[in-house]
Amino acid sequence: MDIRAIEQAYRRYARFYDVCFGAVFQPGRKAIVDRMDCGAGERILEVGVGTGLSLPLYPDKVSVVGIDISRHMLDQARVRLDRDGLEDAAELVVMDAEHMAFADDSFDKVVAMYVASVVPDPERLVDEMRRVCKPGGQIFMVNHFHSRNPLLGGVERLLAPLSRQLGFRPDFSLDRFLGQTGLDPMNIRPVNLFDFSTLVEARNDKRSAGKMAVPAFAAS
Ligand SMILES: C[S@@+](CC[C@H](N)C(=O)[O-])C[C@H]1O[C@@H](n2cnc3c(N)ncnc32)[C@H](O)[C@@H]1O
Repeated sequence: MDIRAIEQAYRRYARFYDVCFGAVFQPGRKAIVDRMDCGAGERILEVGVGTGLSLPLYPDKVSVVGIDISRHMLDQARVRLDRDGLEDAAELVVMDAEHMAFADDSFDKVVAMYVASVVPDPERLVDEMRRVCKPGGQIFMVNHFHSRNPLLGGVERLLAPLSRQLGFRPDFSLDRFLGQTGLDPMNIRPVNLFDFSTLVEARNDKRSAGKMAVPAFAAS
């Protein structure tokens, strides 16, 4: 996975992304925004906001910044906000979540929905999410992780060599992700149909602490 392959993949997906990945993964988006329990005046950062499927879910009282590496995905998000009369719901910026332009401690809550298995370097992503999140703030993720079901897990392993073309890693391991990023979740729970995805919630209290020495992320 590299940033160019990701941009190309999501340029292809942008127009029909909502049809393929909208409704089916919306329960996970809703679960995470509910769990965020956003308070009045909070500053929220959503990385990899894509076509903005989550944006109508946030309450009016918060200020939301959404970033994405794909201009084409963000164009779709802008169409959505215009169409729904939600122009002020979020500020949308083309930016690499692994190299963010925000100052340290800029946000109360930072969230990534279906992004961790897409970025080139998930460890770097989490480091950046921690950096821009206030100490004591919260980090939220929802993602599909490598299935423990032998059949589905086997299919995901077979698909792994196609990660570049697919635009995500089908065999992304939760244990490995937690070990490599040092995230110490206070809540992990299944979401979406058939518990296909996992919601992970962590407090931003230990920057890069507790990382395990495991090999670099690979598609195997
Ligand atoms: C599977 S989509 C998820 C989109 C949206 N969060 C959702 O709930 O549907 C992954 C998104 O992450 C974006 N992305 C991948 N790598 C990124 C990076 N390094 N920085 C910012 N966005 C990135 C992609 O462009 C794409 O829009």
